Amino acid sequence: MQFSLLISVVVDAFLDMLLVAEAYPNNPAIIMVPGAFHSPQVFYKVKRQLSQVNYKFLDPVALPSVGHVVGRQSDIDAVKSVLYQHLNAGRDVVLVGNSYGCTVIGEAVEGAPGYSDSSSSALVAGAKARGRIISLIYLSGYIPTIQEVNHPETKLDIHSVSPALFKYNDDTGEVTSDGDKDLPPQKAFYNLLPPKEADYWTSKLSFSSFDALNATATYIPYAGDFEVVYVVGKQDNSVPPAWAQTFIDQPGAKFIVEHLDADHVPMLSKPEEVTDLIVKYSKPSAFVRI
Ligand SMILES: *[C@@H]1O[C@H](CO)[C@@H](O)[C@H](O)[C@H]1NC(C)=O
Repeated sequence: MQFSLLISVVVDAFLDMLLVAEAYPNNPAIIMVPGAFHSPQVFYKVKRQLSQVNYKFLDPVALPSVGHVVGRQSDIDAVKSVLYQHLNAGRDVVLVGNSYGCTVIGEAVEGAPGYSDSSSSALVAGAKARGRIISLIYLSGYIPTIQEVNHPETKLDIHSVSPALFKYNDDTGEVTSDGDKDLPPQKAFYNLLPPKEADYWTSKLSFSSFDALNATATYIPYAGDFEVVYVVGKQDNSVPPAWAQTFIDQPGAKFIVEHLDADHVPMLSKPEEVTDLIVKYSKPSAFVRI
């Protein structure tokens, strides 16, 4: 009894030492991926705040499927290109997605090194040549279900499952976000912004490529391979809390769940809170469960 207690204290101290050595002095790189229709500019407030607290590698990524008719692989490749620059340079990484951007980061991390239990032997061996993924943060994630990845034949066409605001132009392969007269982007995405700011960001929206949105995902990162934080927006009109809860409640899903009093694009409406969450979940010690 006493002996095992002693062992666990020693192991704790040892892990703490390793984790502190790993986490400091360098903060991880933060890769930020916007949702459908959105430009990476929506991260500008969070990017500025992170740089004020000593984060040096801050990479908002432009999705090729916004403004171009391309498939999802282009989006995944754009994220992987930035991700592997950091990992290969020995830097740890946190990936932050918003809405459909969460689908993209979830695919991009397949096969990448993480901090999960199975890879902790690499930590003890002191292998620090390559960086690792600390966490994925889903802001109002619009994400694939475990069911549709395990049984792709059951996945529905997004025509039947997307929010009403999606407007499809089947001739061009373009999808826009002005399909619901009662829920224009000002209300669907930016309901907590001052009206002028909501109008401004609405004017910046572009079309998204149908093929990218309708593609079938091939990988689930949130069933144990990675630490994944799902951030629910209490005033989100696009992926409302009840819908977000269906992702969280899936059998086999292992999310850490946070709730913000936020709309669908919290990087604009609640930048301080989003920054705080990124800081919180960019330390591997945030996930130690002993
Ligand atoms: C959209 O995805 C569904 C389900 O994977 C597929 O059956 C359908 O053919 C796709 N739609 C188009 C127009 O490609």
